Amino acid sequence: MSHIGLGKIILLGEHAVVYGYPALAAALDRGVRIGAVPTPAGGTLRVDIPSWNVKLTAEDDHPLALALGAIADKLGIGRPPVTLVGEAQIPPGAGLGASAAFGVAIARALIDYRDRRAAAAGVVVAAPQLTEVIAAANASEELIHGRASGVDVALAATGGIGVFRKAGGLRPIHIPALRVIVGPSGAQRSTAAMVERVAEATTTAGADDPRLRELGSLADSGTRALLAKDFAGLGAAMDRAHALLGELGVSTPLLDGLCEAARRVGAFGAKLTGAGGGGAVIAIAPRDKEDAVLAAWRTAKVDGFVTKVGG
Ligand code: PMV
Repeated sequence: MSHIGLGKIILLGEHAVVYGYPALAAALDRGVRIGAVPTPAGGTLRVDIPSWNVKLTAEDDHPLALALGAIADKLGIGRPPVTLVGEAQIPPGAGLGASAAFGVAIARALIDYRDRRAAAAGVVVAAPQLTEVIAAANASEELIHGRASGVDVALAATGGIGVFRKAGGLRPIHIPALRVIVGPSGAQRSTAAMVERVAEATTTAGADDPRLRELGSLADSGTRALLAKDFAGLGAAMDRAHALLGELGVSTPLLDGLCEAARRVGAFGAKLTGAGGGGAVIAIAPRDKEDAVLAAWRTAKVDGFVTKVGG
């Protein structure tokens, strides 16, 4: 049996969401799958994800090993002789929420292992709770990302599309499927470093910084545009959000170039998604312009794809 955590894209509101503003975000149709098998010779808790070249024990000095240990600790299960074998459909460090997808899939697999053992010992076990999965995965996100808002984990665990706030969690919205073009730039970066960069850029006003405030109100107006099927309005909000993220220091010439290329061939709008500094860009475009966006990115050696969110 395998357990999934989904990747995500942030349509509007990244970074501002760390300061309490809303973010419009959606789960991808792909993520990380984890299955649990006994560790040979009864060794310790391990994780093995061949597509990420990851083969670690919970004791190793590696961010994902620390994440694994944090989840096991949060669940209070020690270091059982289990190997968590994974298959990842999204690249790590690409701004697509891979670490949260990892955390959610690991948490689900360990909860399932714990509950099966308890049931085998004759204990009556309640159905797994989403809140426990989210709390365990957030323990690892805080370790990896520092000041994580929780948006990635909420989407990785719940799926769908919605407006996330640190204070209230994810409020799902219901829309027909939206096609989003995703361009992983191939440049890796650290989310924690980008969150720190925004903290430095906003030291004077903190959460009252006008750029953060505007990013939050763009998440609201963009959500209204999406609900009204006003894709030009949503695209304009995305373009403005990208410019503001650039002012906060988290865009790069590569990301700017990919967004400009998408707009030039007819996209409604384009922006970086996630922490920035590398990672991925997203664009929305009329259906007959999607291929042109993908072709424009390919000339910059970026292999994009179209994903459907919502629906
Ligand atoms: O780096 P990503 O794609 O996981 O995105 C993180 C989103 C931020 O708003 C930058 C941080 C957060 O925890 O919300």
